[in-house]
Amino acid sequence: MPGETTDAVRTAIVRGAPGPARTVLAVLLAAGAGLASGACAREPYAEVPSAALASACVTCHGAASRIQDSTIPFLAGLPAARIEEKMKAYAAEPESGLAMQQIARGYDAATIRRIARWYADLKPETP
Ligand code: HEC
Repeated sequence: MPGETTDAVRTAIVRGAPGPARTVLAVLLAAGAGLASGACAREPYAEVPSAALASACVTCHGAASRIQDSTIPFLAGLPAARIEEKMKAYAAEPESGLAMQQIARGYDAATIRRIARWYADLKPETP
């Protein structure tokens, strides 16, 4: 666990390791912190095409065409900002069993933005 290593190094520094060892430990600590922040900042689905990401939504929301007789809102052509805001709102709501609350909690902001843009760019083929 990188976290445990960092804690051990921090403890050694606080307890006062000898000069050269302290320098080595400080470098290790900095490297560990860099790795940790890099892992958090990475976009987890960067390599996945937007259409593939949005396919998780198409079953319920349709793509360019509406799903016949469905009462689930049609997203094609909606402004991306509206889709993003709704997703943020669902993720922040207390859970009440609504599918969208579960779904919205599963995505990072960058991925939601890409899905929102994919839908915004779709030209609705059915009214
Ligand atoms: C299991 C079916 C299902 C899936 C899959 C699904 N949704 Fe939904 N979604 C719904 C339902 C049902 C509603 C309406 C909920 C309500 O009335 O609040 C909704 C509402 C929404 C709304 C609000 C639309 C509006 O105009 O009010 C947005 C935005 C949305 N979904 C985005 C998404 C995105 C993006 C995905 C894919 C990551 C997705 N949904 C996947 C069922 C689904």
